[in-house]
Amino acid sequence: MNNIPSLSTSIGHINLDTCTYNASGVNCITEENLRELALASTGLVISKSCTLEYRDGNPLPRYYEDKDGMYTINSSGLPNLNYLEYGKISSKISCYKPFFVSVAGLKPDNNMIMLRYLSDVGNISGIELNLSCPNIVGKPQIGYDFESMEEILRRATEIMGPHQREGIVNRKAFGLKLPPYFDISHFNNAAEVINEFKIDFLTCINSIGNGLIIDPVEERVVIKPKNGFGGIGGKVIKATALANVNQFYRLTNCDIIGCGGVQTGIDVFEHILCGAKAVQVGSQLKMEGVLCFSRLNQELKQIMESKGYTKLEDFRGKLKVIED
Ligand code: SIN
Repeated sequence: MNNIPSLSTSIGHINLDTCTYNASGVNCITEENLRELALASTGLVISKSCTLEYRDGNPLPRYYEDKDGMYTINSSGLPNLNYLEYGKISSKISCYKPFFVSVAGLKPDNNMIMLRYLSDVGNISGIELNLSCPNIVGKPQIGYDFESMEEILRRATEIMGPHQREGIVNRKAFGLKLPPYFDISHFNNAAEVINEFKIDFLTCINSIGNGLIIDPVEERVVIKPKNGFGGIGGKVIKATALANVNQFYRLTNCDIIGCGGVQTGIDVFEHILCGAKAVQVGSQLKMEGVLCFSRLNQELKQIMESKGYTKLEDFRGKLKVIED
């Protein structure tokens, strides 16, 4: 009998051989980046969030990590090749494994133009609409404005909607990358909007926006954009990420993708215990490179073996609470 734990999972109707892959954010801009991710032990590959036009991103330095890997701060400003390029590159990546494109229009209309085009590209298996980039000057995070979010989702789901789902060829998984929420009323507000629409998956969470890391010796900020303000990642955001995964797992029927604070197999295990069907890796990918995926998968398998679990569904979402 084969007792080696299986890490296979699915997002919407897309099957993955393993449950870890890259977060849209780190090392996923160029065709070379994406191929490297495809050849690693990832379940799928997702592109950097794209815009209508090519973007260089914010001025350097725009990324900083502390030496113990506890926290990172980034303000990349969506550097990307543009949406048409990711449409073209899709054929080079989808021959290895499912390829998702992340979309982050600077205006709602731009999102619709990109979704209309990308939803027709056969080699793209899924689209993640990023409602949560904290790093564009003058652009709020849509995920914190529930009225705008509702309007965008109404238009987006019409484009991604049933007419494309019924035919196998153009059926894509459609999901959202959410910002972290901190208040129970905000979890409820966001879930209420999301539950109005057919959304396959939610990625929880983007970096914690507008943090400030400073160098006390130099008495200075550590990144240049926005006077040093940027998205916080790394180990310190795991508790917030797990809370968001678990809340949206309870409040919606969407598949939940955990993202935030993943450095070891235990972190992956905890995200899945909170309800995640797959887990993205951001800061750790930046620090360790693509070999992090085989290590994380191996560590997760060891944990599962030690607990007698053979598949993710044996423990997914089964987080226990302390009863009276
Ligand atoms: C960035 O490019 O600034 C990060 C993207 C994001 O946080 O969504």
